[in-house]
Amino acid sequence: MERTKFLLDESAIPERWYNIRADMPNPMQPVLHPGTGEPVGPDDLAPLFPMELIGQEVSDEAEIAIPDEVREIYTMWRPTPLYRAHRFERAAGTRSRIFYKYEGVSPAGSHKPNTAIAQAFYNKRDGRTRIATETGAGQWGSALALACKLFGLECKVYMVRVSYDQKPFRRSLIQTWGATIVASPSEETNAGRAILAESPDSPGSLGIAISEAVEDAATRDDTAYSLGSVLNHVLLHQTVIGQEAIAQMEQAGAFPDVVVGCVGGGSNFAGLAFPFLREKIAGRELEFLACEPAACPTLTRGLFAYDFGDTGKLTPLVPMHTLGHDFVPAAIHAGGLRYHGMAPLLSQLVRDGLVRADAYSQTDVFASAVLFAGSEGIVPAPESSHAIHGALETARKADEEGVERTILFNLSGHGHFDMAAYDTYFAGKLVDLALAEEDIERALRAIEGLPSVA
Ligand SMILES: Cc1ncc(COP(=O)(O)O)c(C=O)c1O
Repeated sequence: MERTKFLLDESAIPERWYNIRADMPNPMQPVLHPGTGEPVGPDDLAPLFPMELIGQEVSDEAEIAIPDEVREIYTMWRPTPLYRAHRFERAAGTRSRIFYKYEGVSPAGSHKPNTAIAQAFYNKRDGRTRIATETGAGQWGSALALACKLFGLECKVYMVRVSYDQKPFRRSLIQTWGATIVASPSEETNAGRAILAESPDSPGSLGIAISEAVEDAATRDDTAYSLGSVLNHVLLHQTVIGQEAIAQMEQAGAFPDVVVGCVGGGSNFAGLAFPFLREKIAGRELEFLACEPAACPTLTRGLFAYDFGDTGKLTPLVPMHTLGHDFVPAAIHAGGLRYHGMAPLLSQLVRDGLVRADAYSQTDVFASAVLFAGSEGIVPAPESSHAIHGALETARKADEEGVERTILFNLSGHGHFDMAAYDTYFAGKLVDLALAEEDIERALRAIEGLPSVA
């Protein structure tokens, strides 16, 4: 019998996070203060984040020790399993070998607790008692609610309106772990009220919810802000995924030709890919594929430019691929991928040609998700299903070319709270929302006049 699962002992939970900044061929450009146009310093960020996270945000050290208290909580679900997708390979009729790292075994059902636990830990140690955040699909909000519960912190979640309506049980989960939750745009912040005054039926977006959470944190001394993706320290915390996967691929006697992940803000992709990218930068042959929705094609059709991370223009200016900070993506079911920007670290690596991106329509993605669920058994989150589809497309292309490839993808979460989206798909009601060129041009007008990237 060929092996299916590759498991590691708890003692193999990584002791350090890997910081790709130390090895990048071209450094990331600085994040700028929108008022002065100068690089932001630790003091600018101090109202929002604890100093230790700010230190990680700007660190050039290749490895950063994971505190014992964080590793101890990681033992609740880490190391996560790595699977060889024998049944999916057969269902797809491919000659390629497909492996996946499964992050859906965490209590919240995705990779998000890897950073939520670390962020709650540093906030607690810094003396903060409350954290405000946004959530798209609800995965991040539930991960942070759990982390705050474990460290005895209060948690306030601004949940993008469309997901709030589509996923009532994510809301319940967030409340079960003791957090307070409100639909965004909300009446509770200036940013939310301004949007509602203009469009009372706004479906919300991650950009809007970020504005609300940042405003909440900036106006209260006891409250820090926490982001579930995009920032350097968030991507850093996710690198436990790739480090474990390297050890598990070794157990399987294999090494990937292609590493695949879905991208919303870039954190699960980075978590799996960056430890492998370290090997590529050191000279090893391998490819990377970032998969995004055609309705929010940040990497494939956005510009690499300075832009705000949020709609209300409260954040610093970030060098990244962007569709413009006031872009409100269509209400697709992969709520966690509806973000106008992208992690600056990943954006730089795409710009440098180390990572390739592709965009898929949601009906194709759901077809691949259903093929996967019917063969591997796991019902994937709509976000993660973009990676499944990317892996399948890669395998199909290899078959056409008559080659066999080893493909590794990140199954970033399960879809148990996303069954309404599957219902819509089975009812034939899922629509593909292609973006016209003029929509992109209109969205990008939002960044005219901002500083240019070098
Ligand atoms: C299961 C899952 N995968 C992926 C993402 C996308 O985020 P990121 O690109 O930061 O991994 C989300 C975001 O909510 C998610 O819930």
